[in-house]
Amino acid sequence: MKLLELLNHGYLVVAHRGARRVAPENTLLALKQSRGRFDFVEVDVCLSRDKVVVVIHDDTLQRTTNIVEIDSFRDKKPYRVCDFTLDELSMLDYGSWFYKDKKHKEPLLTLKKALEFIQENDMYINVEIKDISNCFEDKIVVEAVAKEIEDVGVGERVLLSSFKHSYLREAKKRVPNILRGALFEGGSFDNLLECLKELEVDACHLDAASVDEKRIRMIKEAGYKVGVYTVNSAKRSRALFEIGVNYIFSDSLDKNLKKYAL
Ligand code: G3P
Ligand code: MG
Repeated sequence: MKLLELLNHGYLVVAHRGARRVAPENTLLALKQSRGRFDFVEVDVCLSRDKVVVVIHDDTLQRTTNIVEIDSFRDKKPYRVCDFTLDELSMLDYGSWFYKDKKHKEPLLTLKKALEFIQENDMYINVEIKDISNCFEDKIVVEAVAKEIEDVGVGERVLLSSFKHSYLREAKKRVPNILRGALFEGGSFDNLLECLKELEVDACHLDAASVDEKRIRMIKEAGYKVGVYTVNSAKRSRALFEIGVNYIFSDSLDKNLKKYAL
């Protein structure tokens, strides 16, 4: 099945940053934990200094790695991801603190590894490209992501998304057959439909704090899929599905929503 067919089903739950509730975010272990539990997974990507696509959410490494413990990196504050090579990023731990025994060092996840895992395990993935325009030109970022998808041959399993809409325009040119979703945050939705139309995206991803029924119906009627992030209440999820939302991004729910109490 292609991802587009899955999206048509609706009532889908996406593992936000991998299964963030049960494993360190954006790691291979998080993808493993998502398998079978979620309809598809979402990860965040950016580029290392040597332009390798890595699965990391923040611009900097402090929150999600052990970088502050490593003396040799002291002079690299504020620890921007784009100032570190793949080899340097690979030296870090991405989540041993998540486990009680702290013995397990969680390795860096690259997009290539993530896509291979998706392919091998018959899964689907939303690759959210973080805004790294302070480090790289749009073309370079989109080219790096597109090449990984093509090399692994996983295009039909991928939905690309970004808050930085110029990446989506670039992706439309570079990989026109890959699904794309525009991300929006906050309440400023002037010209939303015009924006979606101009971007020629397949989906619109809105933040949970600023969605309402009227807006969702309007976007659906215009022919776009709607995803809402981040929803960790089963009751809210059901309400959103009832009004036409196709998928919700969640840290704590899984696709078996029925087991959660209202
Ligand atoms: O892609 C949906 C959601 O992940 C956007 O927010 O900050 O968690 O990447 P964030
Ligand atoms: Mg994200």
